[in-house]
Amino acid sequence: MSTSDGNIESILHEDRSFDPMPSKGAPWHIGSLDEYKELYARSIEDPAAYWSQAAEQMHWYNHWRSVVSYEAPDAKWFVGGTTNLCYNCVDRHVKDGFGDQVGIVWEGEPVGDNGPEILRLTYADLQRETAKFANVLLAHGVRRGDVVTIYMGMIPELAIAVLACARIGAVHSVIFGGFSAQAIADRIEDANSKIVITCDGAWRRGSVVPLKDNVDEALELVGEGKVKTVIARQRCMNGIGWTEGRDHWWHDVMQDAIEDCPCVPLDSEEMSFLLYTSGSTGKPKGIQHTVGGYMVYTATTSKFAFNLVPDADQMYWCTADIGWITGHSYILYGIMPNRVPTLMYEGAPNHPEPDRFWDIVERHKITQFYTAPTAIRAFMKWGDEHPKKHDLSSLQVLGTVGEPINPEAWMWYHNVIGGGECPIVDTYWQTETGGHMITPLPGATPTKPGSCTQPFFGIDAAVVDADGNEVGANEGGLLVVRKPWPGMLRGVYGDRDRFVDTYWSTVKIDGKPVYTAGDGARRDDDGYFWIMGRIDDVINVSGHRLGTMEVESAMVAHASIVEAAVVGMPHEIKGTGIAVFCSLATGFTASDDLRSELREHIAKEIGAIAKPDMIRFTDALPKTRSGKIMRRLLRSIAAGELEVNQDTSTLEDFSVVAKLQESGES
Ligand code: PRX
Repeated sequence: MSTSDGNIESILHEDRSFDPMPSKGAPWHIGSLDEYKELYARSIEDPAAYWSQAAEQMHWYNHWRSVVSYEAPDAKWFVGGTTNLCYNCVDRHVKDGFGDQVGIVWEGEPVGDNGPEILRLTYADLQRETAKFANVLLAHGVRRGDVVTIYMGMIPELAIAVLACARIGAVHSVIFGGFSAQAIADRIEDANSKIVITCDGAWRRGSVVPLKDNVDEALELVGEGKVKTVIARQRCMNGIGWTEGRDHWWHDVMQDAIEDCPCVPLDSEEMSFLLYTSGSTGKPKGIQHTVGGYMVYTATTSKFAFNLVPDADQMYWCTADIGWITGHSYILYGIMPNRVPTLMYEGAPNHPEPDRFWDIVERHKITQFYTAPTAIRAFMKWGDEHPKKHDLSSLQVLGTVGEPINPEAWMWYHNVIGGGECPIVDTYWQTETGGHMITPLPGATPTKPGSCTQPFFGIDAAVVDADGNEVGANEGGLLVVRKPWPGMLRGVYGDRDRFVDTYWSTVKIDGKPVYTAGDGARRDDDGYFWIMGRIDDVINVSGHRLGTMEVESAMVAHASIVEAAVVGMPHEIKGTGIAVFCSLATGFTASDDLRSELREHIAKEIGAIAKPDMIRFTDALPKTRSGKIMRRLLRSIAAGELEVNQDTSTLEDFSVVAKLQESGES
């Protein structure tokens, strides 16, 4: 089990009792484990019946002809149906008479004398603003199916831009604001995108992240004239460069935009967005999601996993950035159709003080709170006094996502944040799955700290061996999903082979490929799932996926580095940190200055999240006789399990350790 403390085993085996079912937040959509089990069994027996009744909760212009057609790896959901994501998030509520209700609450990072800036956007506001911006996009030549690149901070205009694309059937490709110019350029080129929506800058921990400068640099890399339009929202009054004819201010283009722009009925299977994610080889891949299936899947999982109920004084907050899938699915698309207000916070959890999140929970009376284990571990470190200063009694459901949560962090979350009264939903899923795959349902599923418990309705998850046979209780194996589900990815943009190779080539059952998540897992005697971490060359840093090869290529792009190997290492806060072992080109000397330079180089090539936590210089990388880098050995060295000379300024000789090891390492 790849947790930082290794304690999951002991909790699983020593304490087999379930925690008592918390009652706060009741009534629950699903009231008991028996009810879940019965519904789950029915959903697996007849997934089409389950998903068709779920889809009936949404608005469709044309009803679908058939619920699903599937020939692995290709699935089609709600075939023949037409719908619109923006309509279901926004316009539908206006039409139903809820135009005055608040759909999005936004809080800015800076705190002035009168507190932070807060905006409350009603569904009517959102209808107007998304229609206006949709008209702006149309006026700039964007057509249904075109890819719109969005690289913004967490401001309301980000949500408006995303929903405006959905309104007219443009495909958005949101890039996390922490990514570098090179990463932006790669994504723009891969998607052949002609328009970028950005900001002058974004606030982060009291400083300005120069987003527009990064876009300018990216567009130089892409080549002049490829991107025709850049629209920038003013946020930080950050001085920026300007290309006449190409660049426009958001406030200028919005000024005269017409407020009427009907949502376009889109085919259920049309592409709604692309989101790039790291894999074990090559550049990040553009994961393709749809309109209808994605909508039904995210709205349904949101409703049940968070117990969302309209008109019940709920205020939902997911702390992720919209630049990641969690923000797409569980700030916007899944939450909004449920007509529960969703909060967007612009900045850092510890600005101006480490209690900022709890201050937000108290002031906005947050009922559902969704965050990542890495954040929870940071809060634990900062001390209980910060949450204890605040009244957190509004909280009903606590969620976690992104990586396995270690039991200590789980218990702290449960006791200190939830007061021992809120169910914790440890939601396992991926960019590719669109929404939750394995998760407790609050009020129904008894939880065990560190386990994501049971599959969602219709999800036929299993732990199998390489031949597709289910392994026994507590045996490790590959996590697969044997039946299609509406939120599943439909492809890797422009790369059919990579789609098939990555997800559909590892395991076959009855001669048919099944979806392989790339995670190791096991089920315990109660059938509970325990995620054991990635089985490919992907590491999960603070809940964000990074390909080790991506970092290796960035390292060798630096003049001083001849060869580099990247492995994960245990990290107290991040879960997994990045360790780099590298050999130097002639003429370069190991030093702390070079180390800092390389860290900055990686930040520039990929983004700050990829900055190595440890860089060790070596004469040569330890290799097997057949020339493979001994990664397992490097992982042991990085974890401190093997003693090697650690003098920071000299070259280390790992070959000595390598010779002591068995050969045949992979
Ligand atoms: O390894 C799993 C881990 O995060 C990976 C997916 O990363 P990404 O596509 O960036 O999406 C993150 C947000 C959904 C998975 O393959 N992961 C995600 N959630 C959990 C998890 N590992 C254990 N427990 C989880 N709850």
